[in-house]
Amino acid sequence: MTELDGRTFLVTGGNAGIGYATATDLARRGGRVHIACRSQAKGEAAVAAIAAATGSDLVSYLQLDLADLASVQRCAQAFLALGEPLHVLINNAGVGGQRGSTVDGFELHFGVNHLGHFALTQALLPLLQVSGAARVVNVASDAHYQAKGIDFAALRRRTRSITGLPEYAVSKLSNVLFAQELARRFDRTLVAAYCLHPGVVASQIWRRVPWPARQIMTRRMLTIEQGARTSLYCATSAEVADVSGSYYDGCRETEPSAVATPELAARLWEYSQRWITPSEPGQAN
Ligand SMILES: NC(=O)c1ccc[n+]([C@@H]2O[C@H](COP(=O)([O-])OP(=O)(O)OC[C@H]3O[C@@H](n4cnc5c(N)ncnc54)[C@H](OP(=O)(O)O)[C@@H]3O)[C@@H](O)[C@H]2O)c1
Repeated sequence: MTELDGRTFLVTGGNAGIGYATATDLARRGGRVHIACRSQAKGEAAVAAIAAATGSDLVSYLQLDLADLASVQRCAQAFLALGEPLHVLINNAGVGGQRGSTVDGFELHFGVNHLGHFALTQALLPLLQVSGAARVVNVASDAHYQAKGIDFAALRRRTRSITGLPEYAVSKLSNVLFAQELARRFDRTLVAAYCLHPGVVASQIWRRVPWPARQIMTRRMLTIEQGARTSLYCATSAEVADVSGSYYDGCRETEPSAVATPELAARLWEYSQRWITPSEPGQAN
């Protein structure tokens, strides 16, 4: 028997960075780990690398493009078709500092970092609720403190800012609000929710920063293994079993932004629910 024997995990963006380090640690401790990635080649390479590093044959890959709500539904259906339980969903994948929109026309950061994960979580919640002491872990960021609120109209347009950073902050605030609202809506003993800042981590998220600036910048950052610690803490620690909806930084419960109010969380949930629901022909949602 190993520590996580019998526990099943789904990690989005498990092929790179913090998600990869998270999936590797879970596999090393005996968990059954599914990594959901947008690139099949990268996903399969990561499965092989994790298996080689840990000796686990309990790691597999699922196709998921969070920028495409149809892909999110296919991923959820593929997981449900496996007939396995799901104990921990780690909503980790993310983009930052980019510009664009998703297949469904949402601002890129919001669409990938929040709405895709919202849709995935909603599709898997019935399974999570019957799997036993399940958890949803949203990898947010301390960048969420920079968001002054949510302009809901702006979420339906491509990225406006040059840097993409204001939009990133809103998407990370959405990760926090989503965890808080999950905690309000669901019995903690069935599904508990957490959100966190992983630290400033030398992952591939900085890939657009030109070399050598990137090398100088990332030298002092946390490694991906250090960056995975708070995700792993929220996903597996008995210390947080009686908690739901809290925000963590450095494996410590921390006060999130004052902007993260129950009213805004409820509003975001309502919009998100409407936006992931296919509209009737001729009707806008
Ligand atoms: N690094 C930091 O300092 C830092 C700080 C605060 C918060 N975070 C958060 O930590 C999380 C992990 O980021 P990271 O630093 O590990 O970055 P990373 O190394 O760039 O990894 C991001 C992961 O997300 C995946 N991804 C991106 N777009 C996707 C899409 N449309 N569908 C599915 N997967 C997608 C990437 O896949 P590809 O490999 O195919 O691109 C990759 O697996 C993010 O939510 C990020 O916001 C990071």
